[in-house]
Amino acid sequence: MEIIIQENYAAISQQAAAVVADAVRSRPGTVLGLATGSTPLGLYQELIRLHREENLDFSQVTTFNLDEYVGLPADHPQSYHYFMHENLFRHINVPAENIHIPDGTTSDCPAFCESYEERIASSGGIDLQILGIGSDGHIAFNEPGSSLVSRTRVETLARQTIEDNARFFASADDVPVHAITMGVGTILDARKIILLANGANKSSAVAAAAEGPVSSKCTASALQNHPDTSFFLDTEAASQLQMADE
Ligand code: F6R
Repeated sequence: MEIIIQENYAAISQQAAAVVADAVRSRPGTVLGLATGSTPLGLYQELIRLHREENLDFSQVTTFNLDEYVGLPADHPQSYHYFMHENLFRHINVPAENIHIPDGTTSDCPAFCESYEERIASSGGIDLQILGIGSDGHIAFNEPGSSLVSRTRVETLARQTIEDNARFFASADDVPVHAITMGVGTILDARKIILLANGANKSSAVAAAAEGPVSSKCTASALQNHPDTSFFLDTEAASQLQMADE
């Protein structure tokens, strides 16, 4: 895995956006895997700028989001459907029919999850997956203890994740307890993966992911077994890496 350390959040956002823009320019029909949360917001803002000012064209791009809360309809302000629409999709020209986000309101989660995997496969697989990382080392909502070969399924959120995400809701009690998430195995199938992390609260998870043993205790550590993964870190997120001291 490649580790790229930049001074601040703006720099990692810009550099990661350049990787996405390169992928889209070199293959207009590229299939992107997308994340929500605070981390990719700067990257999405830069993609919007590149679309507006430098004609970055998403008209043939297909997207698959990592996850969605179970029980939240698409128009709920904390749903990941709403997040993606507000923070990226309504500002760029990716066709609505090319956008895929797990349906948190499905009445048949297992069938939905199977069909999500099938749609990823029939689109040709994910070319470039964007990831954040939870403070407990999760990628998507693959919490500690998740199988490292897991596929898209319903996952119960860890207490730590509910506390971390309570900042977006009125209280921790309002954070949904379950989410539909791509599995670790689903993520590892992507041809290229970029993980972004900023801030000191991510530093121990980043160190465990990059330098710890490959273990379901930190599902991001499975990325050590992926042939083309890059971590874009600010200095605070990188602060517990041993290699950064060498
Ligand atoms: C979101 C996702 C999560 C987040 C992680 C970090 O789609 O899959 O794994 O990437 O929880 O969240 P932030 O970026 O809000 O710190």
